[in-house]
Amino acid sequence: MGIEKISDDGDGKLEYLYPPHLLQNLDFNKSPAIFKPKISAVQPGEDWMVVRPLQKSDYDKGFLQLLGQLTNVGNVTRKQFDDRFNQMKQSGGYYVTVIEDKRISKIIGAATLTIEQKFIHNCSLRGRLEDVVVNDTYRGKQLGKLIVVTVSLLAQELGCYKMSLDCKDKLIKFYETLGYKLEAGNSNAMNMRFDAPS
Ligand SMILES: CC(C)(COP(=O)(O)OP(=O)(O)OC[C@H]1O[C@@H](n2cnc3c(N)ncnc32)[C@H](O)[C@@H]1OP(=O)(O)O)[C@@H](O)C(=O)NCCC(=O)NCCS
Repeated sequence: MGIEKISDDGDGKLEYLYPPHLLQNLDFNKSPAIFKPKISAVQPGEDWMVVRPLQKSDYDKGFLQLLGQLTNVGNVTRKQFDDRFNQMKQSGGYYVTVIEDKRISKIIGAATLTIEQKFIHNCSLRGRLEDVVVNDTYRGKQLGKLIVVTVSLLAQELGCYKMSLDCKDKLIKFYETLGYKLEAGNSNAMNMRFDAPS
């Protein structure tokens, strides 16, 4: 149950995006989130569930289809997926984290921590929470909280001085229960949209 041991199948499909041991010692008592019953990244509550870093084989486990429940993903080929995985791994700072239902080999939840390196605040690190989604048939079972708290604690563990997110108004309450705050005078999200690159 919980976090898998590192293994590889020779062609790299089981390669992790980041070292899975980073999820092993996250202290869920540090989070204000209330879990009833208590669960964590290492003890997600069911022996068929595992919380782990993204693997290349998740292309075949419905990872992109899950992201499709969040936004438009497009037709990403396996090569595009593998190339992007390799680029993320090489550049570092990408912590795409998933929950798998091992009974059916499907990714049922995901969230990404990205880490920006700064000069300010004494060369600090800032985390950003991105692409949070739980498969619609698994919602309401604490998995949203589980995946968000996992990557938020990971950000803290990796030395970030803060973690930020953008969300729809209706999710503000959800994130507030997990420790995120609207900061008075400093809570606007602005975007500039560009035409799709040719
Ligand atoms: C948002 C999302 C990840 C929550 O996942 P989940 O597994 O259902 O969440 P949980 O079961 O952990 O719910 C945690 C709490 O948040 C509340 N909540 C969950 N989704 C909510 C929503 N869309 N609006 C308001 N409250 C919500 C739940 O009622 C629950 O409250 P409780 O602890 O008082 O019972 C999921 O609804 C989802 O994938 N939505 C589509 C993608 C999306 O909008 N992602 C967020 C982008 S910022």
